Amino acid sequence: MGETMKDVYVGVIGLGNVGSGTLAILTADAEQIALKLGFRLRVAAVCSRSVASVKLPDGLGDDVLRTTDWREVVADPRVEIVAELVGGTTTAREIIEASIAHGKSIVTANKELMALSGAEIWDRAIKAKINLAMEASVAGGIPIHAVLREGISGDRIIALAGILNGTSNYILTEMERSGTPFDEILAEAQKLGYAEADPTNDVDGYDARSKLALLAALAFGERITPADIFVEGIRRITPQDFDYAHQLGHTIRLVCSARQTEKGLLLSVRPALIPQDAILASVKGAYNAVWVKGHYGADTFYYGRGAGPSPTGVAVVSDLMRVAREIRCGSPERVSPFAHERLGKYEPVSITTQQRPFYLRFRVEDRPGIIAELAGILAAKQIGLEAVLQLPADEKHNLPFVITVEPSSELAVREAVEQMSKLDFLREPPLALPIEPGL
Ligand code: HSE
Repeated sequence: MGETMKDVYVGVIGLGNVGSGTLAILTADAEQIALKLGFRLRVAAVCSRSVASVKLPDGLGDDVLRTTDWREVVADPRVEIVAELVGGTTTAREIIEASIAHGKSIVTANKELMALSGAEIWDRAIKAKINLAMEASVAGGIPIHAVLREGISGDRIIALAGILNGTSNYILTEMERSGTPFDEILAEAQKLGYAEADPTNDVDGYDARSKLALLAALAFGERITPADIFVEGIRRITPQDFDYAHQLGHTIRLVCSARQTEKGLLLSVRPALIPQDAILASVKGAYNAVWVKGHYGADTFYYGRGAGPSPTGVAVVSDLMRVAREIRCGSPERVSPFAHERLGKYEPVSITTQQRPFYLRFRVEDRPGIIAELAGILAAKQIGLEAVLQLPADEKHNLPFVITVEPSSELAVREAVEQMSKLDFLREPPLALPIEPGL
C-alpha cells in the first residue's frame, strides 16, 4: 500500500452556471474523482450573493460553510484551493489577490481578467509558490490550455484560428439553416436563455476577443492587450449574405485569428467568408473549435462545447484535480505560461497591412451606371475586380448585389469602402468581409 494522502479542500466562489456545474460534478462524482487522485477533493465552503436561495446539490455535506462573503472562503483554514467563478475584473481580482496573499492556490474561469492581467497574476502566484489554473476561461469544454501548455508545447506555433463564441456561432448557423434574420434569432435565443439580455459582448465580438488574446498569449508567448485586437461583430450579416457566400462555395463564421507574419503577430476577430468544405465551416450551433498550425506538427484541431454548466464544470473540476495533485505532490508552478518577459513585448500589427480577397455587399437604390461607378473607385485604388453577383430580387429600391475582389491590401479596400459610402445610391455603407483560405 502506498502512503495515504490527505484530502484537499476547495472553496467555490460564485454559484452561477459555472459554479453550479462544478459543484454538481464534485458531488455526483466524488468517488470517481477520489479513485483518480488517490485522495478526496472536498468542498469546504461555497459563496454567492444569493447562497440562501441557491439549491445546492444533495450530498454536499452539512459541514460546508455557506456564506455571502468571499473573504470568509479565502480565510477558511481548511481551504487549499479557491475556485474563482464570479467573472468580471473587479471582485474577481480582489478574490485572486487575497487568495495569493493567503497562500491558497487558484482555479479560475475568468477569461476577461486573465486576458487583461494574467501575466502579472501568474508572476505573483509563482513568487507565492501557489498553483494557478484557468482551463475554463476559453472554450469551456475544450481543454485548449492543456493543449498549448502541454500537448503541443514542443511545437512552434505559426497560426491559430477559432470559433470562440457560441452565441454568435449559433446565430450565424441558425441564419444559414433557416434564413431567419439576425434580430429574430437573437430575440428567440434571449427568450430561451441562450443569449444574454445585453448581447453586446457576444455578438459584437468582445467575448471572443478576450479569449483570442488569452490563447494567443499562450501560443506565441507575447504580451497582448485585448483592446489592440481588431474586432468586428456579426450584426450586419443577413441571410442574403449566406446565399451569396454559398454561390461562391463559402460560408460565413465569426473567425478569431492569430498568425505570425513577417511584420509580427496579426490578430483579428471578425466575420469572414471561409470555404464550405473548410473544417471550421462544419462547426455549427453553440459549439466552439480551435485549429492550430505548428511549424513541426502541422495541423491539429480541437472541437467541443464552448459553454454551459456541465462542459465548463468539467474544465473547472479537471483544473481542481490537477492543482490538488500538484499540492499533494509538492509541485508549485515554476514558469508562467505567459512567456512575454522572455520573448519581448508585442507590438500590434495593423490588420490593414494584410492582403486578402474581399467580399463587398451593397444595397442600392437601383439606377443605371452603379457598377461602373463602384468599379471606377476600385480601379483607382488598384483593386482588381473578380466577380459581380446578383441573385434575383424584386426590390428595386433596396437592391442587394455583391462584388468580389482579388487579393488586395486591406488598407486600399477600406479606403475604397469609405469613398463608396458617400455615394447617394447606397442604402447603407458597403459590407466588406475578407475571404479567408481554408482553415
Ligand atoms: N457567452 C459565451 C459564448 C460563453 O456565447 O460562447 C461564455 O464564454
